[in-house]
Order: sequence, then structure tokens, then C-alpha cells
Amino acid sequence: MLSVVLFLFLSCISFALARESAWNGLILPGSQKSNAMFTPFYVPPGAKSYDSNSPLVMYSGDWGELFSSNAFQHSIRSSSRQNATVLFSFAGTGIEWFGNRDDRHGSATVYIDGKHLEDVLLWTSSKKTQRQQRLFAKYDLALGSHTLRIVNAGGAGGDLVDVDAFVVTGKATTRLHGIDTLRGLRRDGTPLWTLREEGSSGINAMQLAIISPTHALLIDKVEHNPLDVNGHPAWGALYNLDTHAVKPLNMQSNSFCAGGTFLGNGTLINVGGNPVVEAHTSAADFGDLDGLQAIRIFQPCDSPNADGCDMYENHERVRTASPRWYNTVIRIEDGSAMIIGGAKKGGWMNNATVNNPTIEYYPPKNLHGSNGLPLELRFFLDTLNSNLFPITFSLPDGTVFMAANQDAMIYDWASNTERRLPKIPNGVRISYPMTGTGVLLPLSPDNGYTPEILLCGGSTIDDTRTGYDISSQEPASAQCSRMVLNDAGIEAGWQVEEMPVPRTMADAILLPTGDVLIVNGAATGIAGYGNVQNQVGASNADHPVLTPVVYSPAKPAGSRFSSDGMPASQIARLYHSVASLTPRGDIMIAGSNPNLDRSEVAYGTEYRVEWLSPPYVQMNRPEIISTPKNLMFGSTVTIQASLPTDIQDIKVAIMDFGYVTHAVHANSRMVYLRATREGSNVVRIEAPPNGGVYPPGPGWLHVIVEGVPSKGVKIMVGDGASPPVDNGALENVLENTNVDQYGSSRGGDGMDDGAAE
Ligand SMILES: *[C@@H]1O[C@H](CO)[C@@H](O)[C@H](O)[C@H]1NC(C)=O
Ligand SMILES: *[C@@H]1O[C@H](CO)[C@@H](O)[C@H](O)[C@H]1NC(C)=O
Ligand SMILES: *[C@@H]1O[C@H](CO)[C@@H](O)[C@H](O)[C@H]1NC(C)=O
Repeated sequence: MLSVVLFLFLSCISFALARESAWNGLILPGSQKSNAMFTPFYVPPGAKSYDSNSPLVMYSGDWGELFSSNAFQHSIRSSSRQNATVLFSFAGTGIEWFGNRDDRHGSATVYIDGKHLEDVLLWTSSKKTQRQQRLFAKYDLALGSHTLRIVNAGGAGGDLVDVDAFVVTGKATTRLHGIDTLRGLRRDGTPLWTLREEGSSGINAMQLAIISPTHALLIDKVEHNPLDVNGHPAWGALYNLDTHAVKPLNMQSNSFCAGGTFLGNGTLINVGGNPVVEAHTSAADFGDLDGLQAIRIFQPCDSPNADGCDMYENHERVRTASPRWYNTVIRIEDGSAMIIGGAKKGGWMNNATVNNPTIEYYPPKNLHGSNGLPLELRFFLDTLNSNLFPITFSLPDGTVFMAANQDAMIYDWASNTERRLPKIPNGVRISYPMTGTGVLLPLSPDNGYTPEILLCGGSTIDDTRTGYDISSQEPASAQCSRMVLNDAGIEAGWQVEEMPVPRTMADAILLPTGDVLIVNGAATGIAGYGNVQNQVGASNADHPVLTPVVYSPAKPAGSRFSSDGMPASQIARLYHSVASLTPRGDIMIAGSNPNLDRSEVAYGTEYRVEWLSPPYVQMNRPEIISTPKNLMFGSTVTIQASLPTDIQDIKVAIMDFGYVTHAVHANSRMVYLRATREGSNVVRIEAPPNGGVYPPGPGWLHVIVEGVPSKGVKIMVGDGASPPVDNGALENVLENTNVDQYGSSRGGDGMDDGAAE
């Protein structure tokens, strides 16, 4: 099937990787001095930098040259003369201008190819100079030659304008030889799905959650993203689904490979991460805090412009009991978070030394004598090595399904017992770095909410092999394994099906039609970067799969997969890419960054966002007009909807779009509600009976008429109360665990207080 796999594609590009592949940033030789700070200035591999005194930069007017160890190549040009001009000609698709900001700077007007693009404010109210700032950037130019002109526009508090360096970026090096065997049109030639590229994520979209009708939350690791905040690159952002604007968040700790969930009161928590750059790398101070025990709090944010919404961290009071990197976090039936597995420090393949084979809760619980401290689960000892980011779902009876490596179980947290399930067939491994994806198929009152699990993709690569023995060209798994989680279903075992194309790092997304969309990922290799043979750039995986496929669980086996009319993407979405359903019903697709830090070398860091629209988006859709604020368990309520006349085939479903990272769609869920039409635009619905069927917390209500779903309308399932707090367990965690055990290796506070130039 995969003859391409035979063509070993040896990357001709190589660049030095830091000793530890989990290290969260790459620093250029120029800034490799202790306590250099994390500034926006960065030259991604594959991009080109030009110093202020490059002969290609032409100055007119009155420009002086200053020498400073804080400047790129130790020199910077400045002018305080109005109309003083800089001209720079370059070839590429993107340009970044770097210089300083403080209260002596003024403003500048920027033109590209003679066209006025932006008036840039360089002035800040602070006397403290922020150095190596990205003053202007434009990334979507046509590939070719361009001229940048900067004119000192003066008078905005100060009058200085300076040029430290320019960085030219270009997608000329983008490599795409993906798997695209199933690009198809309907026989009449009409594509039923559409794919549109619009917007830039500003940070790499490693983690994604839809937080409101208008915004998505994006979280990345600490790295040199184009979006800045407070003088340094951002690693968290809010993405406006309507305007495509991005707003940076003030993140404190390194969220590299954290997990997340909403709690029962609508607050989102983001849990775990990576330490700060350790001293032995002798690199710049990234200004981040250790994130291994972080619980970052994002309060409900429903304002249409996301004003006042930010990430809150206080590691003295709010943190996990043990360090966690690559943990999965889910909401359970009482609205609290179960924090599951992971490793105690960053790395790649898990092993017994760094394994964290435990669960804990937030807020902490005193269960089975734990008094808030982590409880060991045998399962995470038995599933080494490839067991990070386990695929887990809270089940209708309150127990929790967990799958890791080749194994699965049902964990009854009330009794602390593990019920092992049959092994995933044919040696397929489904968790990091053999990353597969999983989904809890739609639950329905018609069969008593019988849960059914689908796990797709991953790899059969032996997880005891070392990285240098594994190739990016080894095929991923095409297997989907499906099982009904009741006694009869478990007795019958996993039912195996094959996707049309193998995938690792795919995303499985529940659609409001009840189907499952499978998108993103690679047909060969393994998750991570910088570990295996035949890396592409630094990617451990190759052969991006460009055509999404729909899985229809209700159809008979053998006819469930279809890519009929499905457009193919032009963008590789590999490690650290995401996708989620939006309230509009289309799918937001973003990210891909199999790199230590932002890179322009294929497979580079991807900031382009795509929107995949199912056919129903273009159809005449029903519309929910009003709902109660809360959907109380076991209640019967009416909602108002605009519906076509005479239709009785009306379904109503509540959906959780999930918290997406590393192909794990935590909490992703669809629950059908009994619904009866009462009059022209009134539908009577029966809420889920309890928090097992739908863990209390935010959801998106959909009305589906003859298979065509409305947009999702946000509703709080349950009373919106905060999850139970056991103060004894909470205090015990705080007394018996340390804050940020690696934090002491941090030097400086990331702020530069050097004298003004
Ligand atoms: C700068 O240019 C503008 C427009 O050409 C002109 O009005 C202004 O007088 C100039 N200022 C100086 C100081 O040359
Ligand atoms: C276990 O993993 C850590 C993190 O990747 C690594 O530093 C360590 O060398 C590994 N230990 C063994 C015994 O492989
Ligand atoms: C929700 O509960 C969490 C955990 O106790 C708390 O930190 C947060 O402030 C609560 N949010 C709201 C909106 O009450």
C-alpha cells in the first residue's frame, strides 16, 4: 500500500539539536551567554538575518551607529530625525524588523513595495529599554523580491527610531510529499466539503480549546513565536473565530505538553508542562517558570472581545502534588479534574525512571488514604514505555476508560479498582510517541447510554527500540479498534477496521451529525522531534496525510470510511498540531511544529489556520433561538428553535468539543437527549440524567433536523457549582509537596534593566 515508504527520503538539512529533545527553546550562538533574556529576536532555521550595517540596508537622513553587547552583531542604527528613512530589499515571503522600545522612541511609518502598511508605535511609557523587539512583521507576501521602507514619523513621546536587524522568512523550502490518495469529487463534480485557509495563530497551536462562541484558547510551549507579549514572545493566545485576531496571554510557566479540562463551574485548568531551560544549556533566560507542577487557571470568558481574560498562576497555592509532563486531564462525574499519568520530567519515550504512574485530582480529594497525594495505578507501570498522554474518557457509570500503549482498562475511582480490558489487537500502540487518537462514540438514551470506544491509528513500532534504530519512514498503523464497554461488548473484544491510509498523530473529532472526522497526522514515523533516523528537518514523522476521512459509526462495518468529496490540504499537520469542532460546525485546524523552536525548515513551524466545513455548513440549518441558562440533570425543559415545518425527525444533542493536544481530545463527547417537537418552534428535551452521562460543565447544544445540525449554543450542564473542595487534602498537598523543584536553577527574572543606549 505504501510504496512511498520505500523511498527513504534523507533530509539534506540538519542542524544541531540540544542534548535534550524536550528542551523548550533553541538559542542562537549570539545570545548564548548566561542571563541573556528571552527576546522576540530569533532567526528560525531556514530564515536569514541581516544586521543593521549590512550593505543591503540603505539609510538616508541622519543615522548614527551605536555599539552594544545587547544588540544583534553588537551594533544598532538610530535616528531621531523626522523623515529619516531606511530602505531594505529582500527576497522571500516574510519580513521582520527588530529594534528597541522605550520612552525615548517615537513612531515610524512602514511601506512595502511602496504601499503604506502600518504606523508603528515604538514608544512605551517605560524608561526601561526593551531590546531586540519585533517592531513590525509581515509574513504573507508573494514569494519574490520586495522593498521595505521605514520612515521616522517622529513625535509620539520620543523621536527615536532604530534598526537592529531584519529577518527574512520564506516558505520556499516547504516540503510536501504527503499521502493524498483519496482526493475525490462527487461524480457530478461538486465538492461537498470545503477547506479554506484564513488567519494566523501567532503562537504554535499545540493545545486548543473552544472557550466561547467567539474564541479559542491556544497554548504552546515557550518558544520564539511571532506573537509577542510584554516584550517577549507569547506562548498562550486567544484566537477570535470571527475576526481571526489573536490576543496574547500572560503565561508564567512553561506549558510545554500540558493537558487541560474545563471544571464543573466552567473554569478551565491547564495542567503540567516542562521545567525552565536548565542552567547547563547556558542559554538565554526565557523568563518562564517551571511548569511541571503548574495548574494554570483560566476563568470563564464569555465577553465577545475576550477583554479581561487571562491565565492565572499562583504556584504557592495552586499546583499538582507531583510533576507531570504529557499527562491527560479529564473532567469526571462530580465536575472535578482527574489528572492522569505522564512523566516526572521532559524526555521522549517514557521509562521507569521518569514515569509518573499515578493519578491525582484537582481540587485534591482524600480517597483510599491518599489525602490529596497521588495514587499509584498498576496500569501505568504495566504499560511502559509508550504510555504518555493516555486516551481516557469518563464513562456513564462514573468510571474512567483508559488506554495506553497496547492496553486498556476501566478504572473505578470510587473503589480504586482496575478492570483490565482485552489488549489492543495486532500489536498496535496508541499513546505517545506511538500516538493514535480516540473517541467515545455518541451516547444515546435509546440504548441506556451504552459507551463505545474507537481508537484509531498509532504504530506497531517496538517501544523498546532506541530512537536511532527507528526511522521516520516506518509505516504508521491504519487500524481502528472499536469496543462496546459492557460485559457482552468486552467479551466480544475489539472489532478491528482499517482506515484508508495509516496515520499517527491524527485527530478524531465528533461531528454533530454523529460521525467522526479523522484529520491531520502522518503516514510514517512516530511523534516527537529530533529522535529517530531520517528526520525530516527535525520531524520524527513523514508523509503527512492531507485528506481527511469521515467514519460513520452507524453504518455497517466495511462501509464506514469515506473521503468522498473531501478536499485535500496543502499543509502538513504533524507533531503539535490540533483540530476542533467550532460552535459554527466547521473544524478549526492549526499548528504543527516538530521542532525544538520555531523553524522555517520543512517540516517547519506552522502558523496558518485552516477551516474545514462539512456540507451542512452550506445548507439551510435549523437554529436554536433560546435555551435555559443551565441544563439541570434529570430535568425536562423546552428550548426555542427555528425549524422547518412538518418535520418530526428532530434530534437534540449536547456536545463537549474537548481539550485537544497531542491527538488526545480530552472530554470530547456527544450525548443525545430525548426530544419532542411541541409546536412550530418549541422542542421539549430531557437533560442527561446525571454527571456520569455528561460530567457537569459547559456544553454546546445542537438541534439536528434530518441530519442537518444547527450551530452549537453554549449551555451549562448541571448547576455550574464549583467542584467539591476537601480542605484537608488541599492543605496536605501544599504541606507535603514542593513548588517547582527545578525552579532554583533559574537565573534572573527575564527583565533587562541595562542602561539606555
Ligand atoms: C517630513 O515630510 C513631510 C511630508 O513630506 C513634511 O511635511 C515634513 O515637513 C517633513 N519634516 C521634516 C522635518 O523634514
Ligand atoms: C529515561 O528517560 C529520561 C528522560 O527522557 C532520560 O533522561 C533517561 O536517560 C532515561 N533513562 C533510561 C534508563 O533510559
Ligand atoms: C471553579 O473552581 C475552581 C477550583 O476550585 C476555582 O479555582 C475557580 O475559581 C472556580 N471558578 C468559578 C467561576 O467559580
